[in-house]
Amino acid sequence: MSDVPAPTLFTWEFAADPYPAYAWLREHAPVHRTTLPSGVEAWLVTRYPDARQALADARLSKNPVHHSESAHAKGKVGIPGERSADLMTHLLNIDPPDHTRLRRLVSKAFTPRRVAEFAPRVAELTNRLIDSFAPRGEADLIHEFAFPLPIYAICDMLGVPAEDQDDFRDWAGMMIRHGGGPRGGVARSVKKMRAYLLDLIHRKRSDLGDDLISGLIRASDHGEHLTENEAAAMAFILLFAGFETTVNLIGNGTYALLRNPEQRRLLQESVGRGEAGLLATAVEELLRYDGPVELATWRFATEPLSIGGQLIGTGDPVLVVLAAADRDPERFDGPDILDLARRDNPHLGFGHGIHYCLGAPLARLEGQTALGALLTRLPDLQLAVEPGELRWRGGLIMRGLRTLPVSFTA
Ligand code: HEM
Repeated sequence: MSDVPAPTLFTWEFAADPYPAYAWLREHAPVHRTTLPSGVEAWLVTRYPDARQALADARLSKNPVHHSESAHAKGKVGIPGERSADLMTHLLNIDPPDHTRLRRLVSKAFTPRRVAEFAPRVAELTNRLIDSFAPRGEADLIHEFAFPLPIYAICDMLGVPAEDQDDFRDWAGMMIRHGGGPRGGVARSVKKMRAYLLDLIHRKRSDLGDDLISGLIRASDHGEHLTENEAAAMAFILLFAGFETTVNLIGNGTYALLRNPEQRRLLQESVGRGEAGLLATAVEELLRYDGPVELATWRFATEPLSIGGQLIGTGDPVLVVLAAADRDPERFDGPDILDLARRDNPHLGFGHGIHYCLGAPLARLEGQTALGALLTRLPDLQLAVEPGELRWRGGLIMRGLRTLPVSFTA
């Protein structure tokens, strides 16, 4: 043990810059038992090899029924509101064989080709949003750009009619504002979202289109079964998993570029020349350097097991700290340096193993389109406040800014 005392986790200072605390944990307590702000006890896994192993370990279940404190931790683990809205049967809460069946079904509908065909629509949405604030010379990039883009994109892809999409914007806004705080409003929003999705699935059954929900219904017609509740839970998890994550990719990513002017200049020049190569590695590096998902979602030990030499008891929750693993100096050269051209970059920002992010192709498309457009359309974009004035949202799983005030030539 070093003379440096163990860091205090989950404070406001920690939220602003958790990386020094993660460096301490990696070195001195790489598998560390802690009490979370909710009162739940969990193991934090911070080294890259341990993290990668844990993410792929079949003895770690995603199903909260395996939590040793299950009864009284009810509502304290998982996505706020999902229990009371009866939306538990989604990919992030289940194990094989159910996970295998549902993932196969959704993969038939949510294909890389569907995402590629969606590129012009993402570009159109991106430009429309930039048009709405460009003449002002200033904006809050979280509320006016990073927040609406993914919600409209995923609504479009699912087949939510345009006239209903602002309801989703409101529900999602409630979830993002209060995700780590009061749960009553969030639970109500999640219930409204579920009722809407069930109704939409019902309507689509008799009027199939080429949207993702119709694709899900079609996929389930080919011999495999998807209950109406599973379909609603699937649409919900696509919305939930694809929303705040992408907000944070655009927000944290833009912020990192503004803090690293030399790297930003290189990217701006490359995008200006119409190249795609650096933009692609840049998005991967931004995912590694300050990724949207700080901790992977909950896992529970189904039997006693060892991670990094530490014994984990049956029922113990395990949280893999992706943000810490992705700065492990044993795996990444100069891990605290932003290097947009980094080649050897097997980051864990999208997870690893059977729960690897299903939406990674869409997230990459949105991240590359949004950052590319910001840099070309607002070339002198700069922060409008001191970095110390920025506030980070205090949720457990996600890492993202509350606001990102910027200025530029109108
Ligand atoms: C799973 C990250 C965007 C849908 C995951 C996981 C991570 C992740 C780390 C694994 C969680 C775990 O193992 O506990 C991200 C990041 C994104 C992003 C960083 C944006 C930059 C999206 C988008 C969608 C999406 C746009 C869909 C529209 C999903 C789904 C899962 C998932 C459905 C669960 C997969 C499974 O359990 O089999 N994501 N995600 N994600 N993501 Fe993403």
